[in-house]
Amino acid sequence: MKVITVKNAQEGGKIAFTLLKEKMTQGIQTLGLATGSTPETFYQEVRQSDLDFSEMTSINLDEYVGLDQTSDQSYAYFMKEHLFDTKPFKMSYLPNGKATDLEAAAKDYDRIIAENPIDFQILGIGRNGHIGFNEPGTSFDETTHIVDLAPSTIEANSRFFDSIDDVPKQAMSMGIASIMASKTIVLLAFGSEKADAIKGMVEGSVTEDLPASVLQNHDDVIVIVDEAAASKLA
Ligand code: GLP
Repeated sequence: MKVITVKNAQEGGKIAFTLLKEKMTQGIQTLGLATGSTPETFYQEVRQSDLDFSEMTSINLDEYVGLDQTSDQSYAYFMKEHLFDTKPFKMSYLPNGKATDLEAAAKDYDRIIAENPIDFQILGIGRNGHIGFNEPGTSFDETTHIVDLAPSTIEANSRFFDSIDDVPKQAMSMGIASIMASKTIVLLAFGSEKADAIKGMVEGSVTEDLPASVLQNHDDVIVIVDEAAASKLA
């Protein structure tokens, strides 16, 4: 795990963008994408760039259950706004949180991931160490599945909603096994509220209690943190 400490989110987004650009010169095909406030500066850099994704595929980590794609809180909407409207891909996939048969939709998503191996995965991290929506306690062998969101995650994400009662209680998430199958992983974290999760991920033991710690077992992970998120590292 390589840790790069930056001054702020703007600089972090620039570095993640540079890593992506370099990989694209090597002909990568599929990007794994994340939502949340953390990757916003990365998407800003990508939108302003001359990168062309029209022959590439994107696969997102997760989506809330029950939100329509047109809902401005859905991750599908977030991706349109922050990336796809400006930089369309040949094909972009997100989990279908409105499927009538969620289990079948999760299986379908695993098939999509298997057919499009992820070359470059962008990740954020939850305050409790979740990646995607893989909450503490999730098996490292898990593939796409329906998640009951942890109360702390509902609380953290309520800032995007009118009220905490509006936050969906479930999500569909790519599993940890699928994330670990990505060839390169770039994880971004900014702010002091991520410091404990970053310390556990980088220096703690590998445990399902802190899902991101599994990344210690991956041989190509770059962690980009600002000073506040890095503040508890030894
Ligand atoms: C959300 C998302 C994650 C994201 C994390 C942190 O719940 N499912 O993919 O990395 O929580 O969000 P933020 O970047 O807004 O802090």
